[in-house]
Amino acid sequence: MSDLRHLIDWHLLDDSVWERAIHGALRYRRDRKWRTTAAGRSIGMLFFNPSLRTRTSMELAAVQLGAHATTLTPGQGTWGFAWEKGLKMDGGEAEHIVEAVGVLSRYYDALGVRLFASHTDLQKDRDEVMLRTFIEASSVPVVNLESAFYHPCQALADAATIVDRLGETRGKRFVLTWAHHPKALPMAVPNSALLMASRLGMDVVVARPEGYDLDGGIMETAIGQAARAGGSVEVVSEQAAAIDGADIVYAKAWASMEVYDDPAAEAAKRHRHADWRVTAEHMRSTNDGAFMHCLPVRRGVVVDDAVLEGAQAIHLDQAEYRLHAQKAILDYVWNL
Ligand code: CP
Repeated sequence: MSDLRHLIDWHLLDDSVWERAIHGALRYRRDRKWRTTAAGRSIGMLFFNPSLRTRTSMELAAVQLGAHATTLTPGQGTWGFAWEKGLKMDGGEAEHIVEAVGVLSRYYDALGVRLFASHTDLQKDRDEVMLRTFIEASSVPVVNLESAFYHPCQALADAATIVDRLGETRGKRFVLTWAHHPKALPMAVPNSALLMASRLGMDVVVARPEGYDLDGGIMETAIGQAARAGGSVEVVSEQAAAIDGADIVYAKAWASMEVYDDPAAEAAKRHRHADWRVTAEHMRSTNDGAFMHCLPVRRGVVVDDAVLEGAQAIHLDQAEYRLHAQKAILDYVWNL
């Protein structure tokens, strides 16, 4: 891969880059000024999946730095894209992603792409085959706006939110709790949250029902990061005990990797754990802990309304940090 400043996930970048990005997000939130540091630059974004926060925060971040942003929804006002190499394109797709990205990177100074997991081919998702195909076709930096396995934009906003609230993060209890959901959700957010909290030196507890382990390679990276930063990582299967004494409760649903390509089996398995929901009682047992969620959130399924409407919920601060974090990301990709 080229030496362009792509952002796939933070764990692939040096500590100095990660720390600078967190401090950038904190600084952008403090001063809230519009700037012209990125005047004359532009970012083009392709959202193959829906978004509220990522799309609007990146568009606004670019504008508030003096840059221009364009958002495209592939297939709606663009041509449909083919992805396979060596394909005879005599089907419905009019344009290959290689030409589309090649053209856009002649126009823009950075590209962004949202490409969720296939949920059909675990190895392909783990290897980020589609994101890497996109990046290989680009001659400008690419920002991952949520891929199969990573959501670095969310992770940076989460880190800044936690540092802002806790100050010193080392040794603080971060509970990443699985939650029930009517749909099989991707693992990008929990993977990036685990990598984020371990890198902050927190005592990370992943609470999940049996059969919902996160990817082994990502766990290994998180354990190594935590050891270097003075924290720890453990995995438990009892939600209430995990949340007891927590400084941060981070709720997220994700699909079981054990039945990744079998939606019916996955749904049956998931629905056996419908009681995995964060309640006000859980939050009372914390160390005056904060409730976080990346949003969108299913009220009454993932978390009770009383938690979202209570004093311990910081999910809107977390969402606000998306805007400040996107500016720090543009600073990184454009080396501002
Ligand atoms: N958390 C998050 O990425 O939100 P959107 O899917 O709305 O962008």
